[in-house]
Amino acid sequence: GAMAEEQALAMVTCTAPVNIAVIKYWGKRDNDLILPINSSLSVTLHQDQLKTTTTAAASRDFTEDRLWLNGEEADMGHPRLQACLREVRHLARKHRGGSTEDVAPLGLSYKIHIATENNFPTAAGLASSAAGYACLVSALARLYGVEGELSEVARRGSGSACRSMFGGFVQWQRGERPDGRDSLAQQVAPETHWPELRVLVMVVSGEKKPVGSTAGMQTSVDTSPLLKHRAEVVVPERLELMMRHIRERDFEGFGQLTMKDSNQFHATCLDTFPPIFYLNDISRHIIALAHRFNAHHGRTKVAYTFDAGPNAVIFTLADTVAEFVEVVKRSFPPTANGDQFVRGLPVGSASLPEELLAAVVMEPVPGAIRYILHTQPGPGPQLLNDPSQHLLGADGLPRHGA
Ligand code: DP6
Repeated sequence: GAMAEEQALAMVTCTAPVNIAVIKYWGKRDNDLILPINSSLSVTLHQDQLKTTTTAAASRDFTEDRLWLNGEEADMGHPRLQACLREVRHLARKHRGGSTEDVAPLGLSYKIHIATENNFPTAAGLASSAAGYACLVSALARLYGVEGELSEVARRGSGSACRSMFGGFVQWQRGERPDGRDSLAQQVAPETHWPELRVLVMVVSGEKKPVGSTAGMQTSVDTSPLLKHRAEVVVPERLELMMRHIRERDFEGFGQLTMKDSNQFHATCLDTFPPIFYLNDISRHIIALAHRFNAHHGRTKVAYTFDAGPNAVIFTLADTVAEFVEVVKRSFPPTANGDQFVRGLPVGSASLPEELLAAVVMEPVPGAIRYILHTQPGPGPQLLNDPSQHLLGADGLPRHGA
């Protein structure tokens, strides 16, 4: 048969999810390859509520690589972005030899245009780099016809991004090899495994985080003896335990270990010298509230976790959402500004018994929580087949109002 002609323009759009770790990643043993000092485990959140969308296009008519983030042109030269691009092209070259002719090969030397946007405010401090790099790698891989293991490539963008390459419950295995070939993410259970599990993202008011994860964890590796102990002794034990809780859908076990691991991560931040503080007063209010709520019920019904910022992520079961959201509303009365306070999946109404109010709701702090996003575990990256959803037009430039 005749050789397929090279395509003039190819365009692909993917979406990818945010994930929240229940056994935290904090600390690298290799900064360039992004190899962690410990394995970690996360829950992938549903893209109906939180997602990144990325369109990648390649054309022989493009004269330079270009990138747009939420509509604003951005620098394509970022080393981590370049590493992802290099790795996907490398895989494309490797896999091409025996490929069929029904898809025209895309010129690997073509310049590319990339547009990416989040369906949630970046300023809210919700982990956007994980979804961002998972989405970029998914789109580039599709563009170049690369299949198979891609978490290794996403890891080069941001460590936590490798876990966003799968849905449900995901483990990132630290690996042993110096070249990182065994530092991969794998699904532990699909999102359908635990249908009652719910997630409430509490976006607290306040400024952006002072120290980024990359810089923060480096200082922790250099100075914190607690982090070393955590990575060597605590995490290996906790991972086994966490996998068992997930397998058995044991919410109390899962919730308690999630809270303990978040607390230990923030303890390693305090053990870092100079110390790093990600939690603020509102975060600590939420922690105390969760413990009072659980104590009142005599069992673990809600569990909090915090990353490198003050926002709380609460795990609970569907039957507890309405009551806990009502408790949060009473504790942090929304200041009327027209914004929707509860977003995402619908939340039923609950009337709180007097003794619950008395035991759990202490001094209300008006306006401390900006909004609550109700979501659940969800699937991994998706390919969008509808061309009307591309963020770039046929000319390769961002579409108006897209
Ligand atoms: C606290 O993946 O953002 O969210 O690998 O340097 O890009 P880099 O760091 P990043 O770190 C995330 C840290 C965390 C915990 C976690 O997600 O496991």
